[in-house]
Amino acid sequence: EEREGSGVAAEVYRHLMRTIAHELRTPLTAIMGHTDILASCSIEEEGLWRRSQQFIAGEVERLARLVEDLLTLSRLDLGVSALVPVNLQVVVEEALSALWQSAEEKGVTLTLQAAPELPRVRGDADRLRQVFINLLDNGVKYTPSGGWVTVRLMSGKDQVRVEIHDTGMGIPQTDLPHIFDPLFRGDEARRAATGTGLGLTIVRTILAQHGAEILVQSEPEHGTTFSFALPIAA
Ligand SMILES: Nc1ncnc2c1ncn2[C@@H]1O[C@H](COP(=O)(O)OP(=O)(O)OP(=O)(O)O)[C@@H](O)[C@H]1O
Ligand SMILES: [Mg+2]
Repeated sequence: EEREGSGVAAEVYRHLMRTIAHELRTPLTAIMGHTDILASCSIEEEGLWRRSQQFIAGEVERLARLVEDLLTLSRLDLGVSALVPVNLQVVVEEALSALWQSAEEKGVTLTLQAAPELPRVRGDADRLRQVFINLLDNGVKYTPSGGWVTVRLMSGKDQVRVEIHDTGMGIPQTDLPHIFDPLFRGDEARRAATGTGLGLTIVRTILAQHGAEILVQSEPEHGTTFSFALPIAA
């Protein structure tokens, strides 16, 4: 198991290396196959040519995203930046506007319910924005058209409590212990949308650096709620 803050245990690291190698090999093999098709296609076979070209473009985009996510994760592993007072509502609103368009295209409604005059939390605004972007991205991706994703910010004793709830496909009980593992993706999630399986690993790593633990509750076909609490700034 990963310890709080940073650092990945040696066996987890070896597993990660093996998984990454596989994740790279599969699309690369397919890309090479389609490159051969492009090379041997005659000029008349436009349909074939276009199909291979589109396939390659899609796989290359996926690989680029994987590399970006791996770089994000390795930068996080370098450690914690300074934690300063952060207005969480502003951070959430920025994340919501980043996801607005894809939510609208999908027919999923994003909402924010924030308690009035929330105290500021101790945090790193850029990293916290990444947390909300990744969680909202999942909410949108794994919620069918007509559904909702709601962020709730609540005042606790020494904390601001956060809930991100969606009315989506939910997570099977057997998947729950694995969803924060690097590169894990559920079978249904694979059918529903593209992704690399690093989003929640990044979320958990950042929250650990903020002294927060993330919890998940889910009911298949009804929805999912992620929750955590951030300490308020002194
Ligand atoms: N809101 C959600 N509803 C249903 N399943 C979810 C939700 N959030 C996460 N999951 C499950 O947890 C898995 C891991 O999520 P994670 O965000 O790490 O990866 P991903 O979304 O598949 O890819 P990406 O790296 O692009 O985010 C998902 O593949 C899916 O099975
Ligand atoms: Mg994700």
